[in-house]
Amino acid sequence: MDSSEFFGFLSERSSVRSYTDTPLTDEETNYILHCAGTAPSAGNLEAWDVVVVTAEDAKGALAEAAYDQEHIAQAPAVFVVCANYVRSMSRYGERGILYAVQDATIAGTYMMLAAHARKLHCCWTGAFDEDAAREILNLPQHVRPVVFLAVGRGHPPTSLTERMEPGEHVHYDIW
Ligand SMILES: Cc1cc2nc3c(=O)[nH]c(=O)nc-3n(C[C@H](O)[C@H](O)[C@H](O)COP(=O)(O)O)c2cc1C
Repeated sequence: MDSSEFFGFLSERSSVRSYTDTPLTDEETNYILHCAGTAPSAGNLEAWDVVVVTAEDAKGALAEAAYDQEHIAQAPAVFVVCANYVRSMSRYGERGILYAVQDATIAGTYMMLAAHARKLHCCWTGAFDEDAAREILNLPQHVRPVVFLAVGRGHPPTSLTERMEPGEHVHYDIW
């Protein structure tokens, strides 16, 4: 892929919040997970874990935990990507908290782009009640859920989402 194809690949992705009920194949799920495994991480500690949720009752409970966001229940799979504090803090102490969140965010981003590469659709979902997610998924205390990544087959919007101009984000040499 050359650089303009890469830009096209990125800019053609958009959040999709409605899906058919066709499940992901094992091969698709494994592809997404393998891609996430190539993500960089602080000290190469890979301080992230993921719970792949396909059970209808658990997805329904997660949708409720996400303040009734229906696409979480409707998606055939929800990848709940978690920061694993212990894995990173064992080397980096307090700083490891931030590193684990970064590791999980990058791994989740790779999953999102891997899904896009497979022509699947997804929605990064960050609004949810963490305690409810912990209880539903039996997450241990040293793990923090960072994102519910809903993945399935849907219909992307016909127009691209508007963005700020890159220059509006950028400061050169000093703020
Ligand atoms: C940190 C974060 C949290 C988000 N949380 C939600 C969410 O709870 N529900 C939702 O429908 N979309 C959520 N989104 C998706 C954004 O709304 C979406 O990425 C943004 O509007 C840009 O649109 P695009 O993804 O189609 O380019 C979230 C995205 C990010 C990065």
